[in-house]
Amino acid sequence: MARLVLFAILLATVVAASWIPLAQCAETVTCYNSGRKFDRAKIISAINSFCTNTINLSDGQKVEREFRFPYPETGHIDISAEARCSISVSPNECNRLLRRPTDECNTGGENGKQGGFVEDNCKKFKMDPNA
Ligand SMILES: *[C@@H]1O[C@H](CO)[C@@H](O)[C@H](O)[C@H]1NC(C)=O
Repeated sequence: MARLVLFAILLATVVAASWIPLAQCAETVTCYNSGRKFDRAKIISAINSFCTNTINLSDGQKVEREFRFPYPETGHIDISAEARCSISVSPNECNRLLRRPTDECNTGGENGKQGGFVEDNCKKFKMDPNA
């Protein structure tokens, strides 16, 4: 009986400890899976030129940037902080986040990328080659 109680307490602790940080930090990637398809290299180059400085945003602030594949093809990167959140994103972190919907969507090959976004409960990073 004591062993069972101990086991139940242990299990509850493990579940609680793993659930709380997961709920706060989990990033989810959403793929558009539609629209024109672009080579990964073009998208990575747009990400590299966007993520050059630390970006600080708070409370619903947003940064939007149009990027041009050779004109007339354009896309958008936009990143935002959710209400009541403050974020400070280094160039490396910006790169990592924007690459997620690039590398984890349209995984059939190196190219044919259609973009998507990654979000957690404080921020949303969108790479949309079709906007
Ligand atoms: C952004 O935030 C970081 C850490 O909070 C700070 O060190 C840096 O000076 C801020 N940069 C700007 C441009 O506000």
